[in-house]
Amino acid sequence: MHGVCKSFTTPDGGNHDVLRNIDFSVRAGEFTAVVGPTGCGKSTTLSLISGMDRPDSGEVRVSGRPVDGIGKDVGFVFQTDAVFPWKTVVANVAAGPRFRGASRKQAHADAAEWIRRVGLAGFERYHPHQLSGGMRKRVALAQTMINEPRVLLMDEPFSGLDVQTRQIMADELLSLWDLTRPAVVFVTHDLEEAISLADKVVVLTAGPATVKEEFAIDLPRPRNPREIRHTPEFVKLHEQVWQALRDEVEVAYSRGAGARPGSPAAEPLTPESVI
Ligand SMILES: Nc1ncnc2c1ncn2[C@@H]1O[C@H](COP(=O)(O)OP(=O)(O)OP(=O)(O)O)[C@@H](O)[C@H]1O
Ligand SMILES: [Mg+2]
Repeated sequence: MHGVCKSFTTPDGGNHDVLRNIDFSVRAGEFTAVVGPTGCGKSTTLSLISGMDRPDSGEVRVSGRPVDGIGKDVGFVFQTDAVFPWKTVVANVAAGPRFRGASRKQAHADAAEWIRRVGLAGFERYHPHQLSGGMRKRVALAQTMINEPRVLLMDEPFSGLDVQTRQIMADELLSLWDLTRPAVVFVTHDLEEAISLADKVVVLTAGPATVKEEFAIDLPRPRNPREIRHTPEFVKLHEQVWQALRDEVEVAYSRGAGARPGSPAAEPLTPESVI
């Protein structure tokens, strides 16, 4: 993204600058996490990369080409469950290949393989409502990964899951990523999650969002995202990134964007209170 700006019209007809001069790039195969206070423009950033929306000015390129509509190389895992409730697990995962013209037999065979990879073998004939939240996230992951996107966009994909399931999913995500190594842009509120997964963490300012700072995460791979959190290198990186994020979160809170019932802005901020 080069010099990307985006604004929206407010309900009273005003102009709301959401992104201002966003500049960052993600190399092929690189895992980038994007963090920033709530409402700062993270989802908007992903929607521009996906081609679902367009910038007002500046340039968004994927694989060197300007984004013009939704590209076939881009996969998106949304925050909310985006699986088809009326389809079985296997039909959900096979949807992408079927849409692109694969035979039912081939699509289902490929789907069975991805279902196994996300740990859902045996659940092929279940419908989403018969699965737990974590299992539905696995279906969504398989449904996206089966298309082998070169660019994988993930918008808080594990929000709503309990802490243990979240960490297990993070571990599994890294194993899956290793299979095809797409470039990843992973939006999260959870700084520990961001650092434990990524090669690079991009910190955005409180809106209008611009890149405040980028941090290279030079922790060794393969990584166990649960265990790496206890290493001194991780703790040091966490401290550095939190220093950059903290001020932005305070700005957002003081404007009321992050204010929630029972959590007054005067309360001391911790990385956990940002979630
Ligand atoms: N289609 C739209 N029309 C008008 N305003 C919008 C639209 N989409 C987003 N916004 C505004 O842009 C700002 C950024 O929204 P965005 O969803 O990108 O934030 P975010 O960083 O993803 O927040 P969160 O962390 O809470 O998910 C918000 O103030 C929001 O109200
Ligand atoms: Mg969002």
